[in-house]
Amino acid sequence: MLIDSHAHLEMSEFDHDRRDVIGRALSAGVEYIITVGTNLELSQKAISLAAEYDNIFATVGIHPHDAAAADDEILRQIKELARQPKVVAYGEIGLDFFRNISPPQKQVEVFSRQMEIARELNLPIIIHDRDAHEQVLRMVEESGIRRGVFHCFSGDAKMAKKCVDLGFYISIPGTVTFDKAKKITDVVENVPLEYILLETDCPYLTPVPYRGKRNEPSFIVHTSKKVAQIKSLPWQDVARAAADNTKKLFGLKN
Ligand code: NI
Repeated sequence: MLIDSHAHLEMSEFDHDRRDVIGRALSAGVEYIITVGTNLELSQKAISLAAEYDNIFATVGIHPHDAAAADDEILRQIKELARQPKVVAYGEIGLDFFRNISPPQKQVEVFSRQMEIARELNLPIIIHDRDAHEQVLRMVEESGIRRGVFHCFSGDAKMAKKCVDLGFYISIPGTVTFDKAKKITDVVENVPLEYILLETDCPYLTPVPYRGKRNEPSFIVHTSKKVAQIKSLPWQDVARAAADNTKKLFGLKN
């Protein structure tokens, strides 16, 4: 039993073969896929997909890359979408000071306003943090939200401990399968299994042995096997624990 806790099936990379991709995930034993919105249009598309497929749930939010365009009206519409059935979390939201596609100050404002919405609607949050560890941690702490996940975790083991202490899960992507993945390996070693989620972040971050190709939910099995190897556990145990954690966080039925 596997769950892909963070995919982007709504993205145009899957427009030509989405049904096949979802079929392959089912054949590979992927029970649920959480497809994660990153702007207004893609959040709507994520909700449509969740309405179409029993095994897909959606989340809505404005990604830090898209923060520049997020005005009052867009945030109001996203908030409406967040009330739809099958929306299980708010995100992905956060800060990305690596690429700074949106101005940093605007990212901070939009992240803060979206955490307020999530808090009001009592939804867990999905956090995107790239080169912004300290500020993200501080803002999350101040928000009062104690339920969510740091997706594609990029901090060190010390930061992971802080996130777990705040009530958050640590999500491990396919990059853990790469040769020079020392930091994330260290995180996997140190974070107890009950705080770990697994994700593809597809179409991005494709695990070995498919590195270089488009990623898809069926490839989550390779991430699960690598995490299991690091933790010296059977991979099915890791898959089941991560799936149980995901169900608990997002309130999915068992
Ligand atoms: Ni993502």
